[in-house]
Amino acid sequence: MRRAIYPGTFDPITMGHLDIIERSSKLFDEVVVALLLNMEKQPMFSTDERVAMIREVIPWANVTVGTFEGLLVHYAVQQQAQFVVRGIRAISDYEYELQMALMNRELNAQVETIFMLPAVEYTYVSSRLVKEVFRLGGDVARLVPPVVLESLKARLPVAVVT
Ligand code: PNS
Repeated sequence: MRRAIYPGTFDPITMGHLDIIERSSKLFDEVVVALLLNMEKQPMFSTDERVAMIREVIPWANVTVGTFEGLLVHYAVQQQAQFVVRGIRAISDYEYELQMALMNRELNAQVETIFMLPAVEYTYVSSRLVKEVFRLGGDVARLVPPVVLESLKARLPVAVVT
C-alpha cells in the first residue's frame, strides 16, 4: 500500500493544488491532503472552512483530508505514509522545497519527498496571489474551484473601482 501525504496551508485550495492532488491520486494507492494547524500566520479561512472546501472539490475515492500539528514526518509515520508530495511551480519554489525535503529526510529517512509539476496553466497560481487579486477586484474564476470563488465572494468585499 503506497500512501502519500500532500501537506499545506490551503488558504484556500487552488486549481494548482487540485491538479497535484489528481496526479497524486493516480500515482499512489491513497493520498491524505493534510492541512497544517496552528499556523503563525493568520489564514483567511478557518481550518474547518478550508477542510470543507477541500472535501467538496476532491472527487477521487482514494483521497482523504486530514489535519496535523507539529512535525510533518511525525504525522507521516502516524498515517503510515511513506511519501510526501509537494508541487513545484517555478525554480523559485525549489530552494525552500529542497530545504524542507532535506530537513524531513534528516528527521526521518524513511519518508520520501516526491516533487510534482502542475499543469503549465497553473504554474503561476498561488493562494496568496489569488487572495490579493480577488481582493483588488481581479477575476480568479479560472484559478480556483467554484466553491472557493463563492467563499471568497462571501468573505471579501470586492474593491470598487470608481
Ligand atoms: O502550503 P505551505 O505553506 O507551503 O505548506 C508548508 C508545510 C505545511 C508543508 C510546512 O510548513 C510543514 O510541513 N510544516 C510542518 C512543520 C514541520 O514539519 N517542519 C519541518 C519541516 S521543514
